[in-house]
Amino acid sequence: MNLIFLGPPGAGKGTHAKMLCEKRGMMQLAAGDILRRNIKEGTKLGALAKDVIARGELVSDDLVNDMMFEEIRGLKNSKGFILDGYPRTIGQAEALGKFFAKEKIQLAAAINFDASEDILVDRLSGRRGCPKCGKIYHVRNMPPKKDGVCDVDGEKLTIRKDDEPETIRHRLKVYHESTKPLIEYYRKKGLLHNIPAEGDAESVQKVLEKLFEKIR
Ligand code: AP5
Repeated sequence: MNLIFLGPPGAGKGTHAKMLCEKRGMMQLAAGDILRRNIKEGTKLGALAKDVIARGELVSDDLVNDMMFEEIRGLKNSKGFILDGYPRTIGQAEALGKFFAKEKIQLAAAINFDASEDILVDRLSGRRGCPKCGKIYHVRNMPPKKDGVCDVDGEKLTIRKDDEPETIRHRLKVYHESTKPLIEYYRKKGLLHNIPAEGDAESVQKVLEKLFEKIR
């Protein structure tokens, strides 16, 4: 089953995509993670994306579409995938629709994670991540067992550059202008499902699991 996870920065798309994939053997394709990997590896795409991401702007549709199509082609024999943070503009959604039609890939649903701005800012300000395995923590809501250290591999946790307060505010503005219209886009296609994402991670995951059973 193939899904799209929509929602503003900090809504929990990455956290819940990882949890669902672990349980269901699906693959997570997180556009932001793939771009950050490219920056770390010093690729041409990474060089083009670096400053754009640091400013909290969106990388151009063409670059992101090509990157994601290549990743999706590599997953054709998987148990299904979750596109996390992609598409993020109407242009990307239209290009993805054409790509799915050409490759005969079925989209089961677009799931929108919904939370208030205060909660989003609090979550992003307290987010910590493992640079090695990608596990996501929150200093208060989902802390590691040992302060500042990943439970999985003992790596020192890091703060994302775009989680600075000013950049968070800009990312939320960009979300409202460019990404929020996708909710209506997928609603009109009969593919939209909304998840209230303000509860703790365990309760949100339970709602998501129920929805997953209903969709499949
Ligand atoms: P990206 O990495 O996708 O960032 P984002 O969309 O801004 O989303 P986040 O990763 O910040 O939030 P999330 O919803 O995944 O929340 P998370 O689970 O981590 O993109 C980064 C940048 O890359 C973009 O700004 C852009 O420049 C570029 N980019 C990416 N995709 C692009 C595209 N398609 N087109 C163009 N450019 C693109 O959770 C956040 C925190 O909350 C964590 O600390 C977590 O522990 C905590 N938390 C999560 N759920 C809960 C819960 N239920 N209760 C309590 N705490 C929770």
